[in-house]
Amino acid sequence: MSDIETLKAQSLQAVKDAATLPELEEVRVAFLGKKGRLTEIMKTLGTMSVEERKSFGAAVNLAKDELTQTIDARKAELEGFALDARLKQEKVDVTLPTRTRHEGRIHPVTQVIEEAVAIFGEMGFSVAEGPDIEDDYHNFEALNFPADHPARAMHDTFYLKGGKLLRTHTSPVQVRAMKKQKPPLRVLAPGSTFRCDSDMTHTPMFHQIEGLVIEKNIHMGHLKGCLIEFVKTFFEIDDLPVRFRASFFPFTEPSAEMDIGCSREGGTLKLGNGGDWLEILGCGMVHPNVLKACGLDPEEHQGFAFGMGVERLAMLKYGMPDLRAFFDNDIRWLTHYGFGALDIPSLIGGLSQ
Ligand code: DAH
Repeated sequence: MSDIETLKAQSLQAVKDAATLPELEEVRVAFLGKKGRLTEIMKTLGTMSVEERKSFGAAVNLAKDELTQTIDARKAELEGFALDARLKQEKVDVTLPTRTRHEGRIHPVTQVIEEAVAIFGEMGFSVAEGPDIEDDYHNFEALNFPADHPARAMHDTFYLKGGKLLRTHTSPVQVRAMKKQKPPLRVLAPGSTFRCDSDMTHTPMFHQIEGLVIEKNIHMGHLKGCLIEFVKTFFEIDDLPVRFRASFFPFTEPSAEMDIGCSREGGTLKLGNGGDWLEILGCGMVHPNVLKACGLDPEEHQGFAFGMGVERLAMLKYGMPDLRAFFDNDIRWLTHYGFGALDIPSLIGGLSQ
């Protein structure tokens, strides 16, 4: 009987002395394992009387239970120590400056879209999206392109099997936005567009940013104010001259193209007050037929819309000479013309640092 008490005391002391989890495991195996001392001692039962066997067996079982519980408690304690030590070692100093050198860069197309979203966002526009794979109705018909109108031919459309097409502009998002939400509406729709065209200044896939405002009593003055503010902020030139030239789009009436001032002296293009002009976007008052197609009454609601090419904006602002390089994914080009992932454009923090 005293054997078992001694053994128990030894085992409990060994648990206390175990300073690490592996040491604790050794103690468990030494006392409770298949050949452990408390397991072995049970084998002496055979030499005892029935009475002795009962009380001895019970004492061994009690010792085993107590030891198991003590081991579990010590295990939890050691695990806690180990975690504390690890947390101390792995602690992060949040006051350290961020790394400035990142492998990845933000593509100029993304950058320009984010800059435009920052500017128009400040004017109350929210971003909307539509599908790249469109149908004739949204891409043309609802936008007042009659069935065999010559303007359709200008779009060099990619047609898919089954009557669908790749959207040739972001204007179909106007239709989707008007059908989905009730006016007042201020929507900005950036996205990919597709035309079967490829040369120095055209790629089969490119990007546009579409804008749409629908409210009551909206007129051309609102369109001009909004777009003048945009180009000045986007190009970061306060005295940037602008002019609106009459134009034609099936979905706007009247329609206009907006030019910004530039100079081409010595063969280099420079934006600003230089006596020359550069076309930058298309715009106009939403055509009554488009409003009607979207379930709005032109007598009650009016609006203006605009559309611009993202790559063109990027080339003009950041001076890339060749459009095709945008889609080559040449790491040297991306490193040179790309933007830092943490420099998120905003009117307060700066559009392009
Ligand atoms: N969708 C036209 C294009 O791709 C651009 C455009 C012009 C959009 C005038 C407009 C607009 O919303 O009002 O050529």
